[in-house]
Amino acid sequence: MAFSDTYDYDHRTVAGFIYSSIFWGVVGIVFGLWISIQLWHPAFNLPPLFTYGRLRTVHTNILAFGLGVGVIFGLFYYMTMRLTRRPLLFPRLARFQLYLFNGAIALALVTLLLGMSQSKEYAEMEWPLDIGVVILWVMLAVNIFGTVIKRKEKEMYVSLWYIISTVIAIAVLYIVNNLSVPAGLFKSYSLFAGMNDANVEWWYGHNAVGFLLTTPFLAMFYYFLPKSTGIPIFSHRLSIIAFWSLTFAYLWTGAHHLVYTPVPDWLQTVAIAFSIFLIAPSWGSVVNGYYTVGADWSKMRTHYLTKFFILAITFYGLQTIQGPTQAIRVVSSLVHYTDWVPGHVHMGTMGWVTMTAVASIYYVLPKIYDTEIYSVGVANIHFWLVLVGQLIFSITMWITGVQQGALWKATTPEGNLQYTFVETLARNYPYWQMRTVGGIIFTLGMLFFLYNIFMTVRRAKTASAAAA
Ligand code: HEM
Ligand code: HEM
Repeated sequence: MAFSDTYDYDHRTVAGFIYSSIFWGVVGIVFGLWISIQLWHPAFNLPPLFTYGRLRTVHTNILAFGLGVGVIFGLFYYMTMRLTRRPLLFPRLARFQLYLFNGAIALALVTLLLGMSQSKEYAEMEWPLDIGVVILWVMLAVNIFGTVIKRKEKEMYVSLWYIISTVIAIAVLYIVNNLSVPAGLFKSYSLFAGMNDANVEWWYGHNAVGFLLTTPFLAMFYYFLPKSTGIPIFSHRLSIIAFWSLTFAYLWTGAHHLVYTPVPDWLQTVAIAFSIFLIAPSWGSVVNGYYTVGADWSKMRTHYLTKFFILAITFYGLQTIQGPTQAIRVVSSLVHYTDWVPGHVHMGTMGWVTMTAVASIYYVLPKIYDTEIYSVGVANIHFWLVLVGQLIFSITMWITGVQQGALWKATTPEGNLQYTFVETLARNYPYWQMRTVGGIIFTLGMLFFLYNIFMTVRRAKTASAAAA
């Protein structure tokens, strides 16, 4: 990049966030493997700290906030500096944010293990940590908005729009859903009660998917796909139309998590309708990605990062067909509460989110250290292992999910339930074991990634020490 000679980009903070997110990613994935075993081998529960109830929360929080938010902070700063053609407005603030971020995630880990929880999914952290999260987000917002306002590049590329929408939406969602009355340092009660609480929680919950697991990774996809392939994005107009319609539609879909609950019927229908509408803007980005690489499909063979990005956007495409389908009442009545949903989740998190993140990191770190990736061969092994691991995970969960739903619904001619709950549960065991196998393969793949990153940085440092 020609710009890096002209401006003093804050690479150390970017690298710090990337390393932190990789570290938390490893921790979170190990907990994922652990809970996947606990489900079919209860002896792996070690009370009181390491039981399924606590570790599941640790798994989701550490991966969403440690891996996800860590990589978002780092790569948002990397992209913003380049897209605005200027260094961060407050580099020291960003550095402080890095330390605070790691402290907050470590505290989240400890408090969740100790069972301190608000009992709201993806919003379990207690109120003192919520305040920490808000402070971290304000730091991000100040730096992003400040840098964008003072930008030297007039045009705003679509990634910047996605970055801005993430910063605004998450701030609103997080603050509203976490409004609570403290009852001591480690206990609080939500400001909302009953159905209102559930409604606000899922308005937050689904938009966490939208603005934490979708828009930031679309920002990365739109930036790093053209950068790494050297092919310009197919259509800027399509990217902007998809951006505005996605941002508008997402905020109405939360109640699709509450189909067949006491939430008013009309609200469920609005959420279902907007969920189906979401297929259009989601596929706007998928098609844009395909047509971009369509200029030279041979890159799928010759350029390892194209494979990561195209498979990632393919999983995003499948996810955004599957999601709206699940929102429809008749489908929800079969798959809701079953293992189908973790199958959906992990196609998105392991396929779309993690693949986009690792591909972006593979591009960024060598740039920062002015070197090449250590081994394309190792990256290819990484690619195949995470792909196979994720497919085993998702497919086994879809099969067992449909089986579960069907068994729960089965009735005798007299109208009684045909199977007891325990009978339906016992049939999950082989699939849960297969999921663990898929998880091990995925984890192996991530170890190859770790090795490749470690060797890339080590080689670059040795070379610069020799040159000095
Ligand atoms: C080795 C890899 C992984 C394994 C073995 C694993 C395992 C699991 C298991 C067993 C559950 C509980 C499912 C249930 O409630 O029945 C779960 C939930 C979850 N995991 Fe993972 N996971 C892995 C990777 C990831 C990654 C990389 C992410 C995010 C980046 C992630 C995010 C989540 C989320 C959001 C849930 C909650 C799902 C829901 O409520 O439906 N997982 N995981
Ligand atoms: C058009 C886009 C999407 C729609 C309409 C959609 C729809 C849905 C629906 C209806 C559910 C609830 C299933 C149930 O419990 O019955 C769900 C769950 C979930 N989806 Fe999606 N989905 C979409 C895209 C995504 C993407 C891209 C991700 C990224 C990883 C994702 C992650 C999740 C997670 C984590 C849950 C589990 C929430 C929980 O119960 O803990 N979804 N989705």
